[in-house]
Order: sequence, then structure tokens, then C-alpha cells
Amino acid sequence: MATNITWHHNLVYDERKALRKQEGCTIWLTGLSASGKSTIACALEQLLLQKDIAAYRLDGDNIRFGLNKDLGFSEKDRNENIRRISEVSKLFADSCTISITSFISPYRVDRERARELHKESGLKFIEVFVDVPLEVAEKRDPKGLYKKAREGVIKEFTGISAPYEAPQSPEIHLRTDLKSVEECAAVIYEYLVREKLVD
Ligand code: PPS
Repeated sequence: MATNITWHHNLVYDERKALRKQEGCTIWLTGLSASGKSTIACALEQLLLQKDIAAYRLDGDNIRFGLNKDLGFSEKDRNENIRRISEVSKLFADSCTISITSFISPYRVDRERARELHKESGLKFIEVFVDVPLEVAEKRDPKGLYKKAREGVIKEFTGISAPYEAPQSPEIHLRTDLKSVEECAAVIYEYLVREKLVD
């Protein structure tokens, strides 16, 4: 950590909230590859934008093309990937945006750190377990990655040769083999309404 730096307190969050007429938060989607995280995140983002609610999506594959292009899939790199995303997502939430993240985020400790980070800033963090049996995800295999992982071409592949630690008490638990994308997005939206994060 750098020395000689001073933290400046955020004194204008309440003013921003009044101006934007909206509180920010992070909706953290976690789940296996091909569980449906990105598709649900897109549907939710669209639903919110159509209702004039500021929302922004941070997506696993896309962030790895830019901000996190120096990171691979070792445990250490995934920890750093999620640490950076947690910080970025917190900034979006702090700007009174509904920040939607879709990352495998396989380690419980990383997700708990993200939660703590938001809590320290008084921002809500909603963990959504995008759950699907591994067999179903593997059958979907839209990018052909499970096949390559089984053949040993891709190493450290989540669910096959790297762990996925399922959430123990997520705010929302979705079974994407039992519900449609629209139904899943609606479940999250209804949660936001119940929590008075949107009207
Ligand atoms: S993590 O674990 O949260 O750091 O991963 P994330 O940033 O979400 O990136 C996951 C996407 O990267 C592709 N990919 C892999 N996933 C898992 N394990 C390995 N080894 C791997 N290599 C590449 C894959 O397209 C993931 O996207 P999704 O949308 O989850 O399928």
C-alpha cells in the first residue's frame, strides 16, 4: 500500500441520491460458467433502464479484455480479479447506479470481502446465486469450454478442475434450469422493489 495518502470522506452521497432519485447498490451474480449470469444480468439491466433506473453491468469476459487483462485463472488471479471488480462495483453503487456484476467469483472469501467493502461504505450488496447443476451447465457449453476442460486443454476450469464454493445464504437463489431468463430478472427486480431500492 502506498504511504502519504489521505482518505477524503464522501460528503455528498445524500445530495446525489436526492438528485438521482435513486439509491445505488451492487447486485452480485455468482455461478458456474454457462449458469446464465451474463444473460440474466443483460435482461435485468434492460428492465431497469426501460424503467428509467440507472444501471450498469460489469461482465466477466469483458472486464478481462481491459481492466483485468493481466489476470488469468489461478486462485491468486481470481482473488485479484474479484477484488478489483468489488472496488469498481462499489464506485458505481456510490454514484447511485444499480451495479450488476456477473463473475463466476468462485471463492466465498472474495464475495464476503466484496460484501464487507460495500457495508463499510453503507452500500447495499445483494448476492444472487445463479444456480444450475454442473451437468446442465456442461450440456449447455455455449463456448465449448467444458469440452476443452474435460480434454485437459483448459486447466483450472471451474467445476471441473477448479473449485466453486456455492453461497450459503445468498439474498436471492435462482435455479436457471427451472426458471426462464425473464422470470429470473423479474425475481431480482421484485427484490429491489421490496427493499425499496427502486419504486
Ligand atoms: S472468476 O473466476 O470470477 O475470476 O472468472 P470470471 O472473471 O467471471 O471469468 C469467467 C469467464 O472466463 C472464461 N474462462 C474460464 N472460466 C472458468 N475457468 C477457466 N479456467 C476459464 N478460462 C476461461 C469463461 O468464458 C467464463 O465466462 P462465463 O460467462 O462464466 O462462462
